Amino acid sequence: MKKNIAVFGTGCVGLVTAVGLADIGHNVTAVDTDLNRVKDLKKGYLPFYEPGLKKLMKSVLTAGKIRFTADSSRAVAENDVIFVAVGTPSRPDGRADLSQIRNAFDSIIENLDSGKTIVIKSTIPPGTVRSLQEQHSAELDAAGGQIVFCPEFLREGTAVHDFYHPDRLVIGSSSGEAARLVDDIFFPVAGKLDVPVLKCSPVSAEMIKYSSNVMLASRIAVVNELAEMSEAVGADIHEITAGVGLDKRIGGAFLQAGPGFGGSCFGKDVSGIVAAAEYHGVDLSLVREILTSNARQRQRPAVKLENAVGSLRGKRVAVLGLAFKAETDDVRGSAAFDVIEYLINKGAVVRAHDPEAEYNFIRAFMKKGYNCAGGVEEALRKADAVIILTEWELYKRLTPQPLIENMRGRIIIDTRNILNEKLFVNEGFTLFGTGRKEQKPKARSRNRSEFVNAAIVSM
Ligand code: UGA
Repeated sequence: MKKNIAVFGTGCVGLVTAVGLADIGHNVTAVDTDLNRVKDLKKGYLPFYEPGLKKLMKSVLTAGKIRFTADSSRAVAENDVIFVAVGTPSRPDGRADLSQIRNAFDSIIENLDSGKTIVIKSTIPPGTVRSLQEQHSAELDAAGGQIVFCPEFLREGTAVHDFYHPDRLVIGSSSGEAARLVDDIFFPVAGKLDVPVLKCSPVSAEMIKYSSNVMLASRIAVVNELAEMSEAVGADIHEITAGVGLDKRIGGAFLQAGPGFGGSCFGKDVSGIVAAAEYHGVDLSLVREILTSNARQRQRPAVKLENAVGSLRGKRVAVLGLAFKAETDDVRGSAAFDVIEYLINKGAVVRAHDPEAEYNFIRAFMKKGYNCAGGVEEALRKADAVIILTEWELYKRLTPQPLIENMRGRIIIDTRNILNEKLFVNEGFTLFGTGRKEQKPKARSRNRSEFVNAAIVSM
């Protein structure tokens, strides 16, 4: 049944949820405190790059199914269900910063009347719903309001696809009625696809969200350590993950070795649960190690290059990929920060490229010793080496030609294992992948006429 829904927050989760809910038939008001952002959204301009979102946004905007506002009081007054999808970034001590949640709640609670349901989508530490309920119990009781935690599992870069194809719907609620309402809201997606719906307590739902990201982050941390071991013993991580993944208990997804995980979620949520555990007197020592291990992985591409060339001083390095993964312009937590920082600290000169994320990277990393090239060939020009950090299609399609034409050196660090090794090795490049042996060009065997010439010269 069609519902009137307000969505607080227009970041990746908020905006994709708002646009998706509008597309599946609800009447949506998206709320943001940033007036400029609201103005842009009203015109259909997106604040970030997310495949498929522009088209969907245009269609719901044109059909009048969504509107954007900075007027939170009115949005609460005029809607029955209030989604909260604001940011919960890390504080310096690793705990989640809940100030945006509190601000959103202040304006929601002030305007709460007759049986509204608040659905939190933001990732929140275990116990947050309970403490919000306690803090606002008088207002919630008076208005018959409910708080539900419905964790979001979409990934940047495939967020629109993930909205329509969830693996599960988790609804954490102490009210059966509020849980049914959320189930109904997502029925056009989850119900039609027969997606499993798990109804549980809010605190279990909060733990499900953190635990999912901990499991995923640990998987990547482990695969990256196994990749390091593979390099040492001359094995190939692709063969290993193919073999390991065939065990149905393990499965083959999410086993790509790379330059360490990045993004705005894994690091934040692993730190978040470790800090929350400390508060509860629990020592998550193994989970904490994920961060230490990942930090080391993120240095490895630059260290590999340093070992290959001896000294980085004065070397020109092309870095391809600044986004933390492909299909996004998000640079938060990107391995590019660690790699470029290492290179410039050791005296290298870096020219970087990214098809979508250069602007965001330059804004976030204002340091001397690097610049953005605006084009792949430009980044490669006179480079001694190239480091590929993001698995963009553009880089997957690279052939040796532009490298031969532009670079002065012949070293490639392919952290995502996306290049065809043979192709590059045959053209004289030395290639360092992740979790596989370094590939060097074979010493060229002299052909018959070269032997004859050599014999003539030596006579
Ligand atoms: C992650 C989770 O996958 C989502 O389910 C969750 O909703 C989201 O966090 C969140 O909590 O909001 P996201 O950070 O957008 O999503 O991206 P992922 O695709 O999970 O990638 C995270 C990092 O892991 C990236 O740096 C990526 O390159 C890396 N990765 C991923 C690997 O190195 N190998 C893999 O096999 C998969």
